[in-house]
Amino acid sequence: MSQTPSSTRDIPEIGAIPRHVAIIMDGNGRWAKQRYLPRTAGHRQGVEAVRGVIRACIERGIEYLTIFAFSSENWRRPEEEVKLLMQLFLVALEREVAKLHENGIRFRVIGDISKFDTKVIDCIRQGEVLTANNTRLHFTVAANYGGRWDIMQAVKKMLAEDSWLADGFDELALSRHLAMGNAPEPDLFIRTGGECRISNFLLWQLAYTELYFTETLWPDFDAASLDQAIASYQQRERRFGRTSEQLAASLTKNRVNGL
Ligand code: IPE
Ligand code: IPE
Ligand code: MG
Repeated sequence: MSQTPSSTRDIPEIGAIPRHVAIIMDGNGRWAKQRYLPRTAGHRQGVEAVRGVIRACIERGIEYLTIFAFSSENWRRPEEEVKLLMQLFLVALEREVAKLHENGIRFRVIGDISKFDTKVIDCIRQGEVLTANNTRLHFTVAANYGGRWDIMQAVKKMLAEDSWLADGFDELALSRHLAMGNAPEPDLFIRTGGECRISNFLLWQLAYTELYFTETLWPDFDAASLDQAIASYQQRERRFGRTSEQLAASLTKNRVNGL
């Protein structure tokens, strides 16, 4: 299994365009409420927004897009809303997976999907198999996902392997069992809807991710909104623990060496 660099052990290469964008799509309910519509209308419009953002990511050369669709805590919502969210997820899977494949997109779901309806599980598995060799965009949906669940399941898997007994274990041994163990850590995190929290999303992987929060409600988030987030990202100085002076010195050195 290939291992991608860890931001706490290595310094990742940084481009003007983030390689991996992770999004908490929040504000569907409020979007609907503003229009005197049921919350589900907001979720439906939210699916449309996902379609637009996928297209925009491809156009901008983003390699990984990971979206939070349903958290391990969202079961706490009213039964009726959870039921409708599940229905919507199934309809979206049935409608969209073939289109994702036609567009060369790799589709994956992370989270404890065993809690879902067998129909949903089958659709997810079929979609993952169908798109397994695609490389244009790695599109991952976090469903019944929680960052703590992810770390716990990785620990359990790691301990089930015998190899750690001989050598002990380190950060890499654990991170390779995380649900996104093979993907680069997110460069840019976006949360719509105005809340400034992580809500148990990719806790481990967000260690050095640039965080961007916007008041825009998810159904209104479009290509221009994504560009604003990228523009903010491009203003950041990613130091990974170093000083600004060190960064400036290594830039000068690279220039002298013609890099
Ligand atoms: C995000 O929108 C979608 C899910 C959590 C499934 P919300 O449903 O949380 O919308 P708000 O935050 O109530 O506006
Ligand atoms: C986070 O949104 C989870 C998803 C977007 C799927 P929530 O709206 O559930 O977050 P909290 O509970 O307000 O933090
Ligand atoms: Mg919310």
